Amino acid sequence: MKIYVPLDTAAVAVGADAIADAILAEAKARDIPVELIRNGTRGMVWLEPLVEVETEAGRLGFGPMETADVPFLFDDLEGHAKALGPVEEIPYLARQTRLTFARCGVIDPLSIADYEAHGGLAGLRRALAMTPADVVQEVTESGLRGRGGAGFPTGIKWNTVLGAEADQKYIICNADEGDSGTFADRMIMEGDPFTLIEGMAIAGLAVGATKGYVYLRSEYPVAIRVMKEAVRIARLNGLLGADLLGSGKAFDMEIRVGAGAYVCGEETSLLNSLEGKRGIVRAKPPLPALEGFLGKPTVVNNVISLATVPVILEKGAQHYADFGLGRSRGTMPIQIAGNVKYGGLFETAFGMPLGDLINDIAGGTATGRPVKAVQVGGPLGAYLAPAKFDTPFGYEEFTAEDALIGHAGIVVFDDSADMLGMARFAMEFCAVESCGKCTPCRIGAVRGVETIDRIKAGDSAAVELLTDLCDTMKEGSLCALGGFTPFPVMSALEQFPEEFTPAKEAAE
Ligand SMILES: Cc1cc2nc3c(=O)[nH]c(=O)nc-3n(C[C@H](O)[C@H](O)[C@H](O)COP(=O)(O)O)c2cc1C
Ligand code: SF4
Repeated sequence: MKIYVPLDTAAVAVGADAIADAILAEAKARDIPVELIRNGTRGMVWLEPLVEVETEAGRLGFGPMETADVPFLFDDLEGHAKALGPVEEIPYLARQTRLTFARCGVIDPLSIADYEAHGGLAGLRRALAMTPADVVQEVTESGLRGRGGAGFPTGIKWNTVLGAEADQKYIICNADEGDSGTFADRMIMEGDPFTLIEGMAIAGLAVGATKGYVYLRSEYPVAIRVMKEAVRIARLNGLLGADLLGSGKAFDMEIRVGAGAYVCGEETSLLNSLEGKRGIVRAKPPLPALEGFLGKPTVVNNVISLATVPVILEKGAQHYADFGLGRSRGTMPIQIAGNVKYGGLFETAFGMPLGDLINDIAGGTATGRPVKAVQVGGPLGAYLAPAKFDTPFGYEEFTAEDALIGHAGIVVFDDSADMLGMARFAMEFCAVESCGKCTPCRIGAVRGVETIDRIKAGDSAAVELLTDLCDTMKEGSLCALGGFTPFPVMSALEQFPEEFTPAKEAAE
């Protein structure tokens, strides 16, 4: 029997390790040989621990599993109380377009053979036969934009680094993933780490960088373990090192663990932290692409941006660009969290209306109460009320609504949410996480909390003051932490003005 039990953090949090142990114990007791594979997750979090058994009819799913359900896996698969049928036919998965996450949950994350059997290394092989400029051109033509938040075209960034003259260049992978409701970076690192390694190697070839680092947050111990092991295996198999797949070209990389600060996800702050300095934002220019890590030209890209490069090289820029909407090309691994029935990762072409994601894919709220608002794009993202649910999931479409996609995390709230409280939280978060370099953020966020408290206490003049303060933070902050905090605050104020009505006046 071949059985899959996810090693993914979310699955482990709800008991996957105990299920794996129980399967091995049961198999031993029955003297049945079992090959147990700790795979990544399929991203259907509400079904975890999701166990899969390989059969002639394909991989059958069982979940959410409890240890008491394990013995029945050996008795009657079809009649099992937790049977879900063929995993790939579960509608949540079947409706996705998996390009970046095609292998996640399918393969053994640490088997290079499995990786290659599912299309791995084809992109790197193709890149090795191309000129660096052609690789950059391919990524540019795919339309890939940075998945870390800003949506900057990846090919254009790479072209700047390619054109920079230097004795050493670097590829830095931003795996700080601090946004609330996001977990795509973690899932791919735990479930398909060679994709990220291959993407970084291709990036290195494209821009002339021979060294890379993954800046990985300390709160992700499983991802750290899997990535470190994957790097070790990659070196042994020539996927990293002085002679990439026998080409004579070099690229190597290391995993570095961050100490835990939201602002260290900001690329210049990250570079300072990686250099052993305090994680404080650097003024731009110079761009990291020209003077980045240790003052050298550096590509800083998000995990998902880099992990999407192999499939672009494997299938061609056009294949990727054929998906999407407007200037948002390809697919986006959307992360659905908060108060929903079916939370998890949903990779789909850009363009799906926000409301379809919430009501149809995620099945509405877990509490069964009406959705009041969703926050998209992490703690700096706007709240969107159901009146905006027709908005298609695309960069420009969200910008037109004064919102942002960011890293594509969606957090859903039902009608019990206190929107003034959420606005206060946004300001408080900014105050706590501010690096302190610029005044609008360092002082503004503290004043923001105080101003919202004044509104709550019945001071009507404070509403205008809050609007004014948000304008100042937006225009005057050095980075997006201070500059974007006004998005959640103002979106709450604009869409739910009655909750900002001074209590005193409301009572009159
Ligand atoms: C406060 C703050 C936090 C950020 N956190 C992250 C993060 O955790 N991961 C990430 O990839 N980008 C983060 N970013 C965006 C990065 O600065 C940068 O734009 C990104 O790493 C570039 O990669 P990309 O072009 O592939 O998106 C953050 C930005 C700000 C202002
Ligand atoms: S906006 Fe905030 S986090 Fe960004 S540089 Fe200014 S003080 Fe630092």
